[in-house]
Amino acid sequence: GYYLAAALGDAAAGIALDVSKHALKRAARAHPRIGAVVADVWRPIPVGDDRVDVLLNVFAPRNAEEFARVLRPGGSLVVVTPGPGHLSPLVERLGLLSVDEDKDRRLEDALGGRFARFGEETEEIALSLRHDEVGAVVGMGPSAWHTRPEELAAKIDALPDPVPVTASFHITRWTASS
Ligand SMILES: C[S@@+](CC[C@H](N)C(=O)[O-])C[C@H]1O[C@@H](n2cnc3c(N)ncnc32)[C@H](O)[C@@H]1O
Repeated sequence: GYYLAAALGDAAAGIALDVSKHALKRAARAHPRIGAVVADVWRPIPVGDDRVDVLLNVFAPRNAEEFARVLRPGGSLVVVTPGPGHLSPLVERLGLLSVDEDKDRRLEDALGGRFARFGEETEEIALSLRHDEVGAVVGMGPSAWHTRPEELAAKIDALPDPVPVTASFHITRWTASS
């Protein structure tokens, strides 16, 4: 919702899709021109053919066939994935899952048959996180399922408070192949 709201500009309307109704409640509140719909991206997306000007996919699964169906001819797909060094030094200090080195190849495998890449950039943001915010960042990522809570709390306690953290985003732009 946060990123979609920023992308809407003066007049566009946006639809937030997610399997989580809790996530969608928040997304719907992010902007008056956002509608939110529960949808599994691996099933047909509840949007007509050729309706979407820009499809924004942020840290989420990608269904190339459905994305190509809903995008209008000439529309853009913008994919945001974790960049190199995302959440450094938390990854090393807390033993979090690191970014898959092969992520870019997997992105190409998933989209390359239907989409052509026309743009690419990496955006880095310097954060200063308090210990409770570090806990929230870990809790919203996949590592939350792989770390024992007591062990994690002890590792967070050993960090400086606040701790400087890098957020790194790899942004690729795609258009449907003809
Ligand atoms: C890391 S979060 C990113 C959420 C949001 N895009 C953002 O930028 O804040 C990944 C999201 O993908 C959603 N998700 C996972 N599998 C999905 C699926 N098959 N269909 C739709 N959404 C899915 C999860 O519910 C979760 O909200």
